[in-house]
Amino acid sequence: ISVDPFDIVVFGATGDLARRKLLPALYERAVAGQMPPETRIIGVSRRPMARDEFRAFTREAVEQSSAAIDDDALARFLTQIDYVAVDAASEEGWGDLCERLAPGEDRVRVFYLAVGPDLFDDICARIGAGGLVTPRTRVVVEKPVGKNLDSARAVNAAVGRVFREEAVFRIDHYLGKETVQNLMALRFANALFEPVWNHAHIDHVQITVAESLGVAGRAGYYDTAGALRDMVQNHMLQLLCLVAMEPPVTMDADAVRDEKLKVLKALEPIDERNATALTVRGQYRAGASAGGAVPGYQDELGAGPPSGTETFVAIKAEIGNWRWAGVPFYLRTGKRLASRVSEIVIAFKPIPHSVFDGTAGPIDANRLVIRLQPDEGVKLWLMIKDPGPGGMRLQHVPLDMSFAEAFGVRNVDAYERLIMDVVRGNQTLFMRRDEVEAAWRWIDPILEAWRGSREPPKPYTAGTWGPSAAIALIERDGRTWMDDV
Ligand code: BG6
Repeated sequence: ISVDPFDIVVFGATGDLARRKLLPALYERAVAGQMPPETRIIGVSRRPMARDEFRAFTREAVEQSSAAIDDDALARFLTQIDYVAVDAASEEGWGDLCERLAPGEDRVRVFYLAVGPDLFDDICARIGAGGLVTPRTRVVVEKPVGKNLDSARAVNAAVGRVFREEAVFRIDHYLGKETVQNLMALRFANALFEPVWNHAHIDHVQITVAESLGVAGRAGYYDTAGALRDMVQNHMLQLLCLVAMEPPVTMDADAVRDEKLKVLKALEPIDERNATALTVRGQYRAGASAGGAVPGYQDELGAGPPSGTETFVAIKAEIGNWRWAGVPFYLRTGKRLASRVSEIVIAFKPIPHSVFDGTAGPIDANRLVIRLQPDEGVKLWLMIKDPGPGGMRLQHVPLDMSFAEAFGVRNVDAYERLIMDVVRGNQTLFMRRDEVEAAWRWIDPILEAWRGSREPPKPYTAGTWGPSAAIALIERDGRTWMDDV
């Protein structure tokens, strides 16, 4: 797909996100031919830096993250990179930025705010005051959008004073993952699933986002957030919405977001009355990961008072609407778990009656597993007859589609797709203001209940599947986490 030249200004250009994700994603799009030579990438941060120094920084960032570098393409890409030192909190550098941008006034212009939310207000105000908002200007807002409903509203209001909602792209990179979009294809491009996609046929849903890494390097931010804010408020609830939403009328941004919003509004409240029964918080202790010893969360934080921040959370959520009444959605996410795996399991109900005798073996319920990472793909577990003459013995086997094997293509990073969606002005995979606020409205009472109970997070050993209470949470209902799929 061809793209007209555009300008992208990355605030926080020397930060972690820019280095690990944004600059490499822009390079990959350049290789794919979506970065016409006139396109400019302007890195912005407070640190004074010569343009060549920032180009060297970019080169290193790309080399570290891309498996195969095309030297000519990288050299061409670097000529498109510029840098301006700008202070978000003062006048410094803004005149310079205005001058750089002036020649491209009729182009699409993207301001990417890869900075902490405390800077959003100042940056947006100065973008507005500097007259930098053209009719084709868009702003990308990184998470976290606030740390509770009130602060999210304040962030949204600050951004909204300068940009119309149609120009605001609140990014949740999980929505850019290949399999997450495939979930929509699976549900709405196949006639097979939608008729059984409800409480009559689905027993429960599990959503797991497990990470094997700890918080090393990000402990400062993480300790103020915790797993509920860092992963559940955004990524996990977005996944839940895509599983649970009604079919949108079209794939238009607002049609999809209207449906997701309805799901968020239908989530049954969890608060001080039921939080103990429906949630589990954990924090990792020293243990082993990838064959080596790893320190506990508290050790990674360094000296200081004991932290009450959770690095793991499990929740039994319910959606109070016609389609999903009585179907639990079990969510769990954590750092330093047994492996890095993100997947959604749709567990169907068992058959109502067996026609087979005892020699056939147990009949497991069907399940559909949508794996986001690693080894993206979809598996549908079915019962079949054991091949051979041994009589009617049944087995549970997966119809397995690994995307890598089926398509043999490079895995496009979520950021590549999402940045190009911003350039094209497509908001379907971005969160609308009311969605973010509705998610916080559900999360806030959980945070309050935890604060009120003063119970510390339950310890778990690094390299395991979290505290035993998380296992009890689902086993109480006669179900188990499916770690083996
Ligand atoms: C980020 C969180 O949004 O997502 C991180 O802040 C987390 O804590 C990351 O590690 C996970 O993303 P991915 O794409 O590696 O699954």
